[in-house]
This record gives sequence, structure tokens and C-alpha cells, in this order.
Amino acid sequence: MIRAKPAVEALDPYRAPLEGRRSKLRLDFNENTLGPSPRVLQAISKLGTTDIAAYPEYAGLAAAYAGELGLTAAQVAAFNGVDAAIRAVFDAFGDAGATFLTTMPTFGYYRPCADLQGMCTHAIPYGEGLAFPSEAFASALAGTPRLAFICNPNNPTGTLIPAGELLSLARRAPETLVVVDELYADYTGVSVLPEALALSNVVVLRSLSKSYGLAGLRIGFAVAPPELLDRLTRVVGPYDINSVAVAAAREALADRDYRDKYVQEVAAAKAWTVKALRERGQRVHADGGNYVLVWPDRPLSWVVARLAEHGVLVRSMEGKPLIGDSFRLTIGTCEQMAEFLTRFDSAIAEPPS
Ligand SMILES: Cc1ncc(COP(=O)(O)O)c(C=O)c1O
Repeated sequence: MIRAKPAVEALDPYRAPLEGRRSKLRLDFNENTLGPSPRVLQAISKLGTTDIAAYPEYAGLAAAYAGELGLTAAQVAAFNGVDAAIRAVFDAFGDAGATFLTTMPTFGYYRPCADLQGMCTHAIPYGEGLAFPSEAFASALAGTPRLAFICNPNNPTGTLIPAGELLSLARRAPETLVVVDELYADYTGVSVLPEALALSNVVVLRSLSKSYGLAGLRIGFAVAPPELLDRLTRVVGPYDINSVAVAAAREALADRDYRDKYVQEVAAAKAWTVKALRERGQRVHADGGNYVLVWPDRPLSWVVARLAEHGVLVRSMEGKPLIGDSFRLTIGTCEQMAEFLTRFDSAIAEPPS
């Protein structure tokens, strides 16, 4: 076999178990568990053969998302999911040998992207109570890393940093490209936007995967000053986003009420689930986002396997620093979480042999 580039041969890739999930209660990937606005399927069903045969057209897509944020279209660029935007950041700015600063544990796709570029990763662990390591991060930033990623709220810990603190970190590091991954900001209402746009070194990432329920169609956005977006869009293909996703995104964004109702429902379901789990003696860490961490009072792998036997998927955090004995539980609707609790109770009723 012809060997790939050394960085690819050495890569520990991001692999998610994505097959065979659809018939289960999917509480493992922080998706919207109800699906998008019904208007999205209607819009897709109206597409004709020309929409399929012709290359996609993107007019109005960035403007639609910019409108939601009160920004201009020039400050927003669309990508084939935020994963593609993350990849573009590293492709455009990730010099080999330069430092990539981040936290740990955090979203698993940053690290392989940095490794592919031959960057040196400096990952600072969260502190007591999974608090953001403010001082250590600030002093690492003072060393002028090339790139710094902060996920806010962090996936999987939920750690939420006030926008003002992030902005002041970014202001103090004008030579570092600071990327704020706000994938779950719809659930927290905390964002560095629009203030971050006054800084020439900040890129904010947002997605329609989670609150809008479009994960299967892959639409994400980078929000930044136009000069930075120009560099990011130079490194992606001209038609990376397909026409079905564009039609779906436009319609989803036109029905913001649907998203708002879902977000409200998740907030109620989250409070209820956390209380119910704690009443059962389970340790729970709940901060920002449509997910919580649960440390079950039985062996983790046994609980995760038993839940799967009962048709419930959760994401084991085994092997992750600081949270290796927990699983991440996505919060869905109140009805789905009541169903989760019923199945959780039966799954762990028999003690492990
Ligand atoms: C923190 C974070 N960033 C980025 C992504 C990727 O999002 P998208 O579905 O838009 O590619 C995810 C998906 O789980 C995530 O949790």
C-alpha cells in the first residue's frame, strides 16, 4: 500500500459510533431529539429535478443566519457543518510546529485536526468542579499560541464561561486566532457576539445541527470579520454544502419559534431529569447545553451496556480525563426523559453479576 503523509499515518482519528442508532432513544450525540420544524420537510419535498441537477446556489443563506444574530451577511460564512469550519480553521491557520491551545476534556475533533497539521497541542485540564482553568489559560495565551479553541459551553463538561471573560482573554491575545465554539449557545443564551466582531482575532462557530435539528444535513456557520472569513473559505471546495441542506436551512431559520419552543422544553426536561437522577442517588454535573454528565453508582460500562439493551443510547466518557467514570446524557423532551428514567430504572434494577 502507498503510505499516506506521516501525519495521517500517525493520526488517532475522531471516530464516533454512528450506525444503527435510529430505532433507539438517541441520548448520545446531543442532537435535537424531535427533529426540525415540519416546514423543513415541506421545503425539501418541493425541490425539483433542477435543484438536484444543478450545482447549489447559496444566495441568502448567510444573510438568513446573520439576520438571526443582527449581523450583516459579510460577517457570516456557511460550512458543511461546524466540523468543516473547524477543519478550515486548521487548514488555513494551523502552521506545522506552532502551538494549538485548548482545554481538556473538550470536543474530540479539534485534536486530530491539529495533529494533521503537525501542530503541538497544549490542552489545559478543567479545574475543581470542572471549572474553566482561567489563570492557566490566560498565562498560556500570554505565550502567543497560533490558535486557541474554547468551547462555550464546553462539550462534554457543560462548563460555561461568561462572554465578558472570553472577550477579555481574546483582547489580551491579538496575535492568536481565538476560536469560540458556541455550538450549544442557543441553550444558554451566552454568546461573545456581536462584541467579538470588533476584534480581528476571533472566530465564532455556530450550527444548525443541535437546536434546529438539522444534524443529518450538515449546516454550520463561522462568524467573524470578513477578512478572516475570506481566509477560511479559501480552503474549502466551492460546493461543499448541498442544495437540500440549503433549502432546509433557509426554512428552519424562518421558523425560529419552533427552535425557541424546543429550547424551552429542553430546559424544563433538564431540570426535571437532574432532580430525578439525584433523588436516585446518582451524581450529576449539569451546566450549559442540552446534556449533563452522570456518574452512575454502578460500573459505567455495565450501565451503558444495560441502557443499550433497553433501547437507550448514552455516550460513555470512558478514557476521557477527569470524567472517565461518567456518561454524557443528552436531554430531549420531557416525555422522552420520563421514558429514559423508566428504562434507566429497569436497566439497573438487577445488580451487575
Ligand atoms: C462542541 C462541538 N463543536 C462542533 C460540533 C460539530 O457540529 P456540526 O454538527 O455542526 O458539524 C459538535 C458536534 O457534536 C460539538 O459538540
